[in-house]
Amino acid sequence: MDNNSWLLLQEQESGHRLPQDLAERDPFGARDCGWVEQMRPFIRQFCPEGGLLLDPFCGFGTTLMAAHLEGRHGIGVELEPARAGIAQERMSRAGAARQRVQAGDIVKAAAQLPPVDLVLTNIPYFGCRWPEEGEAQLYNLATYAAFLEQIYLVFKALKPVVREGGYVIVMAENLRIGQHFVPMAWDVARILSERYDLVDERILLYERPRQPVPVLQVQSNRAHEYALIARKQPRAIDLQASLSCLRALAADFPDVVVYGSYARWLHGEALERLPSDVDLLVPDDIELLKKLVCWFEAQGFQIARWGAPLASHAVPLAAHAAHYFRAHRLCASGELCVIDVCFEDAQISYPAALSQSTALGGIKVMLSARGGHS
Ligand SMILES: C[S@@+](CC[C@H](N)C(=O)[O-])C[C@H]1O[C@@H](n2cnc3c(N)ncnc32)[C@H](O)[C@@H]1O
Repeated sequence: MDNNSWLLLQEQESGHRLPQDLAERDPFGARDCGWVEQMRPFIRQFCPEGGLLLDPFCGFGTTLMAAHLEGRHGIGVELEPARAGIAQERMSRAGAARQRVQAGDIVKAAAQLPPVDLVLTNIPYFGCRWPEEGEAQLYNLATYAAFLEQIYLVFKALKPVVREGGYVIVMAENLRIGQHFVPMAWDVARILSERYDLVDERILLYERPRQPVPVLQVQSNRAHEYALIARKQPRAIDLQASLSCLRALAADFPDVVVYGSYARWLHGEALERLPSDVDLLVPDDIELLKKLVCWFEAQGFQIARWGAPLASHAVPLAAHAAHYFRAHRLCASGELCVIDVCFEDAQISYPAALSQSTALGGIKVMLSARGGHS
């Protein structure tokens, strides 16, 4: 698979699939169970030998089974205790002593997990409808917006768990719900790209007879899906192009304050790693925000919040609610500028930043605060 952008999956090896008696214990008949074969090449390529992987939506333990076969350690978190029990039993039957299954909500469990080299998972799909109530169950969410918000929270919570340089590989499909095509895989990619560096994709092709569409709104026979490959590493922004942009911005908006790692880089400090964005504090003033957004758009920037594009007329209100928006510009040459505009950081407010700032080449900078939206 290393050199291919696709992976053809023809059949499941009978010795590794979920045993029938365990599948029958599940209220969905384990119809959302994946293939061990879909996971193995990713583990070989993206989890070092002796490394640790995590499946945050462990289900029936398919990823852990693959980890066992590839000689890696794995942790699986699964919300439904009955399913976690099935995964646990599957591991015991396989003698997979290095695999750990834990029941719970991944958003809450994340803080207690050890650092991992690879997060590898098949996400729960929107529109599947779980038979029992429960807010943490992603299958249960009533709207697509709520579903995407939960996906966002999961991958935010997982970021501290992934080792620097480690990978996050998410398998997801685009869906058809009722009459509607839902680009779920592409939306998930967008959400991932907010916190991780999207580095590649693979298309998984399943060669199998068409299955009857389940009695649900979601229509899919999972003939293909995407493996979205993201990495925890600093995004490579163009530091000089960002500087020219900040100079032009400061000429028009002299009171904006640059802070965080870009400010320290500008100051000539030796940094452990180069800045992956520019953090900017601005006054909490809707009229000024409107002008800023127009300015960025005129310079070819796109505006987003938590990875979702924002229409320019909506930016001031939406940014006000989040205290933040992101302006990013990718040029045809490959040069990237990413500017996070905040007017109320978790650590410092604009007035405090302004009073502590100093001028550096015509740009106001504040050197003490770390910076970055949460
Ligand atoms: C697509 S299934 C995973 C199946 C798994 N790849 C396998 O083949 O065994 C997604 C799983 O995510 C679980 N899940 C949903 N919300 C969760 C949450 N908040 N925390 C942990 N697991 C969750 C669901 O119960 C479901 O079992």
